[in-house]
Amino acid sequence: MSEPSLRLGVLASGRGSNFAAILDAIDAGDCDAEVAILVSDRPTAQALVRAAAHAIPTAVVRPADYPDRVQYDLQVVERLRAAGVQLVVLAGYMRIVTPTFLACFPGRVINIHPALLPAFPGLHAQRQALAYGVKVTGCTVHVVDEGVDSGPILLQRAVAVEEDDTEESLSARILVEEHKLYPEAIRRIARGEILLDGRPRRAQEVG
Ligand code: GAR
Repeated sequence: MSEPSLRLGVLASGRGSNFAAILDAIDAGDCDAEVAILVSDRPTAQALVRAAAHAIPTAVVRPADYPDRVQYDLQVVERLRAAGVQLVVLAGYMRIVTPTFLACFPGRVINIHPALLPAFPGLHAQRQALAYGVKVTGCTVHVVDEGVDSGPILLQRAVAVEEDDTEESLSARILVEEHKLYPEAIRRIARGEILLDGRPRRAQEVG
């Protein structure tokens, strides 16, 4: 019997194109994982529509319905646990998760960010890269810790900045790479090729 596939819980606030790329990779048989639930903090998120089209269970948990961030996060955790989630995937989730949330899924929360971290964390990473004048930027998949876009780096891909790039054109080229990188990270986590503490395998084998 083959191993059961990795159960993902995806958190998304908006468009959900990374979520769609993950679904496409799973549907194509490229990724031994399944999305057990999609949770959004925004009832209008396009990601919810995408989930419905794939018959994936969804939950909308609205921050305004909870007295504080911890109570909100505990509600999200409850939904994820009820769905049997093993790996939490932040895909355009525009909230900072609390230490309480992270303690419920220790080392099992990953994120994608549209820059080569540790450069340009936070909002508008592509705008920050253009403003700084870097010639190369890209995207990063990392394990989430208590900081903003910090935590062990799992995979990165570089994207050249062109002379005439606008925030839109650069974001679009980075997004193409995000859509490859995130499914690749999940595929390799599912296979045990990437371990979630971010240390290179050879270091783990020696140490
Ligand atoms: C993506 O570019 C993702 O890297 C970014 O938001 C976008 C979501 O797009 N995330 C961050 O900036 C997190 N700091 P999507 O909803 O179409 O996947």
